[in-house]
Amino acid sequence: MKNAELVRRKDAATPRGVGVMCNFYAERAENSEIWDVEGRRYIDFAAGIAVLNTGHRHPRLVAAMQRQLERFTHTAYQIVPYASYIELAEKINQRAPGQSAKKTAFFTTGAEAVENAIKIARAATGRPGVIAFSGAFHGRTMMGMALTGKVVPYKVGFGPFPGEVYHAPYPGELHGISVEDSLKALQHLFKADVDPKRVAAIIFEPVQGEGGFNVAPAAFVKALRALCDEHGILLIADEVQTGFGRTGKLFAMEHYGVAPDLTTMAKSLAGGMPLSAVCGRAEIMDAPAPGGLGGTYAGNPLAVASALAVLDVLEEEKLVARGAALGERLMDRLHGLRSRVPQMAEVRGLGAMVAVEFQKADGSPDPEFTREVQNRALEKGLLLLSCGVYGNVIRFLFPLTIPDAVMDEGLDILEDVLVR
Ligand SMILES: Cc1ncc(COP(=O)(O)O)c(C=O)c1O
Repeated sequence: MKNAELVRRKDAATPRGVGVMCNFYAERAENSEIWDVEGRRYIDFAAGIAVLNTGHRHPRLVAAMQRQLERFTHTAYQIVPYASYIELAEKINQRAPGQSAKKTAFFTTGAEAVENAIKIARAATGRPGVIAFSGAFHGRTMMGMALTGKVVPYKVGFGPFPGEVYHAPYPGELHGISVEDSLKALQHLFKADVDPKRVAAIIFEPVQGEGGFNVAPAAFVKALRALCDEHGILLIADEVQTGFGRTGKLFAMEHYGVAPDLTTMAKSLAGGMPLSAVCGRAEIMDAPAPGGLGGTYAGNPLAVASALAVLDVLEEEKLVARGAALGERLMDRLHGLRSRVPQMAEVRGLGAMVAVEFQKADGSPDPEFTREVQNRALEKGLLLLSCGVYGNVIRFLFPLTIPDAVMDEGLDILEDVLVR
């Protein structure tokens, strides 16, 4: 089966709304490499959009899933429960940020975790309002879209969205939004749009993912915590993209010295299996009545087995520290190129969650150059993802298990396509 033939069949059989970045088709993958149906090899700096911190087909994950496959694959946890669900909840409760007693519920996708975090916050506070940020991405469900702060392509044509959702600007030095500006905007929101006593939750990404790998300054996160405490609002950290070692800590919130009330997680939680979670303070998590949370596939046994193996692998292979070291190596390399690539406006990130933003000489976003970099890298066998509200940011999401030689090969290709 050739790529061109598959592209033709895809166009005829599937809707264009499911946009597809690559015009080649996966045949197999191993750790940080993918081979297509024509035998071409790609170095994977996309990791299935931040899902594969432990790499493709980590042997420990494969073995754990094989063992589970021999026992049972589905009972519906809410009908016939199984111990592994509880074991994983216990492990996440121990590891998630915050000292208070915690509970965890499992779901299937990141958007579903976000939906449920909002449901839990509303049930716990009896309030309707939710505040999110510009540049945020929280998923493609109705509430996910309402919370998302990036119109194209996520919100176009799909409204109206659920009400009582408000947005404030997310701080970003490059775009001239200081922490103070963001906090002032929140105060203005409370004066002009919504009484803080009607707000159930503020949801934010400690490092915005789709929005451009914008890192929340510590002063901002601490101020959000204080604002929430002042008004009885719950703070939700959306760690769907930042979790499980991507930022040099197991969870990004560990960088900030304050804890959220609820944390959403997905992606690298189960290393390629569909699994998400909401973890939070026990009394908040217990607000919804029995039957209010869950889903047919929520906490699927194969995905749970894979997630338990992910936690073991992260610890045993010291991948969180390795991610931080790899991130530093990439940052150094990118900083070293800045004088030779005038389009590079900013290199930023936290741990292994690193990105580079491109601008034109007049300071406006340069999505064309970004696309060029992405396309040229792909021609040379390196898979890169873009992001940013203007599509002018390249983000790096290599597996934390990537061998040094493959990382170096990827970085050499990157240098080659950036410096012309
Ligand atoms: C921070 C964040 N929240 C939520 C989501 C939605 O996750 P999913 O695509 O699994 O629904 C994403 C996906 O990219 C994300 O990055």
